[in-house]
Amino acid sequence: MSTLGHPSNVFWHQCTVGKAEREKLLNQQGCIVWITGLSGSGKSTLACTLGRELHSRGKLSYILDGDNVRHGLNKNLGFSPEDRTENIRRVGEVAKLFADAGLICITSLISPYRKDRDACRAMLPDAFVEVFMNIPIEVCEGRDPKGLYKLARAGKIKGFTGIDDPYEPPLNCEIELQLKEGACPTPNEMAGQVVSYLEGRGFLQTL
Ligand code: ADX
Repeated sequence: MSTLGHPSNVFWHQCTVGKAEREKLLNQQGCIVWITGLSGSGKSTLACTLGRELHSRGKLSYILDGDNVRHGLNKNLGFSPEDRTENIRRVGEVAKLFADAGLICITSLISPYRKDRDACRAMLPDAFVEVFMNIPIEVCEGRDPKGLYKLARAGKIKGFTGIDDPYEPPLNCEIELQLKEGACPTPNEMAGQVVSYLEGRGFLQTL
């Protein structure tokens, strides 16, 4: 039987410098901060603010942003359910590598399907922090920073998340960010909440 196209006869190669040693060098623990939510909910803003805050504390992070990754690694993917699943799977695998490198890997993707997010969680169950931007669609649509909701409502974009494609909220996320008395917390407040959580879990130091 042909093995072309199948990963047979492939073996894992172990190197002498391991994750724990890299983490010691960085004085932090590699993990994934997975930000999920509707388009326009503020995922990228939170990711950048969080990255800046971690940087100012001397912690090394890296952001994998859906829109950006779709310019390169995932530029052959669209928005069908299958393509979104593959988008999330690839980003999950890359995030796992970054975490193995010892970094705090921040991902910022709609990641609308629960099973896809859960599959990423299963890749690194002890170091996966799911952050749900629980911002009502009316607020996201009101912002409409890229004008895409308008196009979706006009039927010019099909399968837009929240309009004619589902968003499945997490059932057991580590952090949920939402409006307080009708107002959205500032990016700094939200990033502060995530940093406190990471601190509490011990990710911002080595043992
Ligand atoms: S995901 O569903 O596969 O996780 P991802 O986060 O990578 O999506 O990309 C979402 C971005 O693509 C949105 O912020 C928006 O700018 C753009 N986009 C274009 N078409 C769609 C669509 N049909 N649904 C959602 N977002 C879309």
